[in-house]
Amino acid sequence: MRLVLSFFRKIDKAGFEGKRAGLAGMAYKRKGREMETRIVKIKDKAAVRDEELLEAAEVLRNGGLVAFPTETVYGLGGNALDERAAEKIYAAKGRPSDNPLIAHISCMEELSGLVREIPEAGKKLAAAYWPGPLTMIFPKKENVPYETTGGLDTVAVRMPSDPVASRLIRLAGVPVAAPSANTSGRPSPTRAEHVIEDLNGKIDMIIDGGQVGIGVESTIVDVSGPVPVLLRPGAVTMEMLETVLGHVEVDPAISGPVSKDVRPKAPGMKYRHYAPKADMTLVEGEMERVIQYINEETRKARQAGKTVGIICTEESRGQYPEGILEVIGSREHEETVAHNLFAVLRDFDRREVDCIFSESFSRDQLGQAIMNRLCKAAGYHIIKV
Ligand code: TXA
Ligand code: MG
Repeated sequence: MRLVLSFFRKIDKAGFEGKRAGLAGMAYKRKGREMETRIVKIKDKAAVRDEELLEAAEVLRNGGLVAFPTETVYGLGGNALDERAAEKIYAAKGRPSDNPLIAHISCMEELSGLVREIPEAGKKLAAAYWPGPLTMIFPKKENVPYETTGGLDTVAVRMPSDPVASRLIRLAGVPVAAPSANTSGRPSPTRAEHVIEDLNGKIDMIIDGGQVGIGVESTIVDVSGPVPVLLRPGAVTMEMLETVLGHVEVDPAISGPVSKDVRPKAPGMKYRHYAPKADMTLVEGEMERVIQYINEETRKARQAGKTVGIICTEESRGQYPEGILEVIGSREHEETVAHNLFAVLRDFDRREVDCIFSESFSRDQLGQAIMNRLCKAAGYHIIKV
C-alpha cells in the first residue's frame, strides 16, 4: 500500500513540474486589466462584522482571489487546497511558480488538516506566538497541492492575528494561501492603495482595512528538521525565538546575496525583492560619517543632473540640505521604521528619483528584519564608511 501511495505521489509531482513550465510563461503574458475588482472598505477593523466579509469568503470558497489586510502586510488570498486558485495567484502576481505560498489558518484545529506532524518546536512556538507574525514550515499532508507548495513536500503555515484576516479565513472555511499582495519584485503592500496600484483588474476583490500595523512580512522558521532554522527575519525576533527554543540556526540566505547554484530553504529569498526603480545604496557606519557621505554623494549626483532620494530618520532629518527626504521612522522606536519601510520605497518610485541613499540600522532585534529588507531593496549595494 505504501508503495502504491508513493508511486502516485511521484506522478503527482511530475505532473506539477510539467505544468510549471507553461505556467511561468502565462504569468508574464498576462498584462493589463482583465476583470472588475470589487473594493470593500471595512468601517472599523477591530469591530469587523461577518456581513462585511461574507461575500469575500464565498469568493475564496469558489476558487476566486481576494486581497486582505494582515498585521504584517496585505495578502493575496486563494483556497490553499485548490490548485487552480494557487495558479491564479502566481498569474496575478507574475510570480514564478517555484516560489511557494503560505497557508493561513484561523485556529489550531485547522493546522492538523494541512500537516503530517507537529514537531515539538512547532507546538512551543505556536503556543508562544500564534496568532501573530510567525510562519512555520511543516511536512505537508497529501491534500495540500504542489501548486501551493511550489513542488515542495513541506508547507508554510501562519495564523494571523489581524481581526479581518482571522475572521475572513474562518468564514471561508478553507485554509487561505496568501503571498504578499504585490506584483512580484515590487515592495510589499502595507495599504490597500498599494494593492490597487499592483492588482486592480487582475483579482476578484480587495478588502480595504486601512494601514497594516507591523509593515514587514512574518518571521519564517522551518520546524520540519532536527534543528529549527530561521529562514526570514520578522517581528518575532531571533531573540524571541531563542527564548522559547534555545538554539536556532540561521539560513545564510538571510544575510547575503544568494549565489545562482544555491537553492535557499525559502525559495523566495533568491529573488530580487522590494526593488525600487532607482539605484539604491545603503550606507553603514558611524552616524556622523554616514550623513557626511550621503551629503557628498548627493551633491555629486545632483551636479550630474540626477534626482536624489534620501532615506533618513526623525533624528537626522535636519542634517541633509539637498535631495528629496523621506523620513522612514525613529531610531528610538524601530517599529516605526518597519511600519513605514515599504511605503517609503513606493513613494520614491512615484517621485521617479534616479538614485536613493539610505541610512542603516542595527542588525539585532527588529533591526534584523529591517536590514534584511533594506539590503535586498539595495540589491546588497552597501557602502561601509
Ligand atoms: O507576513 C507574511 O508572511 C505575508 C502575509 C500576507 O501573511 N505573506 C508573505 O508571503 O510574505 P510571501 O509569499 O510574499 O512570502 C512567503 C515566503 C517566500 O519566501 C517563500 O519562499 C517562503 O515563504 N515559503 C513558503 N513555503 C515554504 C516552504 N514550504 N519552505 C520554505 N519556504 C517557504
Ligand atoms: Mg512577498
